[in-house]
Amino acid sequence: MIFSKHMRNKKTIIISNRLPVRVERRDGDLHFIPSEGGLATGLGSIYQQEGNIWVGWPGFVPESEQEERLTREKLAELNLVPVFLTEEELQGYYEGFSNEVLWPIFHYRLSYAVYNTENWHVYQQVNKKFAEVINRQDPDEKDEVWIHDYQLMLLPQLVREDHPTIAIGYFQHIPFPPDEVFRCIPWRDELIKGLLGADLIAFHTYNDTQHFLNACTHLLGLPIQNNCLLVDGRSVYAEVYPMGIDFDKFSDLAKSTSIQQRAQEIKQYYRNRKFILCIDRLDYSKGIIERLQAYESLLQEHPELREQVVLYQLVVPSRDTVPQYRLLRDEIDRAVGHINSVYGVNEWQPIAYYYNSYPLEELSALYVAADICLVTSIRDGMNLVCKEYVASKVESNGVLVLSELAGASKELLEAIQVNPNSIDQIRQALKQAIEMPEHEQQRRMQDSIEIVRKFNVRHWVKIFFNRLHEIKTLQKQEMAR
Ligand code: G6P
Repeated sequence: MIFSKHMRNKKTIIISNRLPVRVERRDGDLHFIPSEGGLATGLGSIYQQEGNIWVGWPGFVPESEQEERLTREKLAELNLVPVFLTEEELQGYYEGFSNEVLWPIFHYRLSYAVYNTENWHVYQQVNKKFAEVINRQDPDEKDEVWIHDYQLMLLPQLVREDHPTIAIGYFQHIPFPPDEVFRCIPWRDELIKGLLGADLIAFHTYNDTQHFLNACTHLLGLPIQNNCLLVDGRSVYAEVYPMGIDFDKFSDLAKSTSIQQRAQEIKQYYRNRKFILCIDRLDYSKGIIERLQAYESLLQEHPELREQVVLYQLVVPSRDTVPQYRLLRDEIDRAVGHINSVYGVNEWQPIAYYYNSYPLEELSALYVAADICLVTSIRDGMNLVCKEYVASKVESNGVLVLSELAGASKELLEAIQVNPNSIDQIRQALKQAIEMPEHEQQRRMQDSIEIVRKFNVRHWVKIFFNRLHEIKTLQKQEMAR
């Protein structure tokens, strides 16, 4: 049966740079690999519903029209709509502008930013390309659009121009810096105006939200009341929605016999030494080098701990076409080599280092096995690794050492919190964690588990959409007045 436009149900369109399914070309065939990421799980129940869709880049560049058609057809079966990007577009929009301007500035690394007007133009063009793909989905004014993250900051306004009353939400997964830092970007005004096309602009923390609001008033002189900005007569809200994880997925996996067995194997392989776990995407914002220095200082100052501990560092490959990331990888190789060669003995290597992507099951076993999880981000929007660790501690043991500069520190108040720039604080925190009595571990971990369980990713999605709908109702009432 063909529905006329006004009879159609409301549809939800989710947009992010990457689709929740990655396409890979291997041995001449295309493979479609679902993402295990938090966003994919959290929004799974939404985009998989009939009529709803997720728009994004499929993670590869087709080599022929046939490959493009095949990808489009296969993804359509999953309610996914690909935005194909050329190598030049990826270079300018993704590597050049998103990851060499926005990423470093938003993580307070001013000296890492590379300003290039050509890349800015490509970023603009690609945001327009996303808007065109959305338009081809024939959105209706009663539909709702949820745009994710810094790669698409211009998109809310582009969608708004074509659909004046449609509900648009935007979520920023990375920090928003103070306005004096944000001001460094030559195209800062355009970026804010891009975001202001949304009705609800959301961040992980109160501070990020305030920084954004300050930028709006200081740079654009917009009138503001509490957290509401008046933009061309339209009320736009900036609010805090800390993202959660799929608690049940991690907790259930951790309870399963196979994962428990694998965790035992890992512990035995490392001879039941205190097992300190670090899992990070390769990124200078994660504080990997500083953490390794702190670990070295622990071994230096407390020689009695040598052979009693092992630091397991998993680095997940990422953005290795961006020069800063390649340099960091070499630096980590050198730091690990140095520590292992200076302190290691035949029977014991202080650091087990892997540069790889692991399946979820192996991550789960590592979380279960770990006595300590060490997260020392120099800046992090949220950090989900620490929440995954907490959800996996089904016996409420284990200690979380967490950077106070990660968004999660605002929620996980029972973690041992450290300033990640202080080698001394990280060393002391590690010592405290190693010696923490079981009853204190239990008390702290139970508190963290409650928070991660309650404020899970489904809760996050639910309250975000509830608020977006509420805002649309408020706007309609204002218009009617
Ligand atoms: C962060 C960003 C995401 C991004 C992810 C992986 O979590 O907030 O937007 O997708 O890193 O990075 P990549 O560049 O590989 O997409």
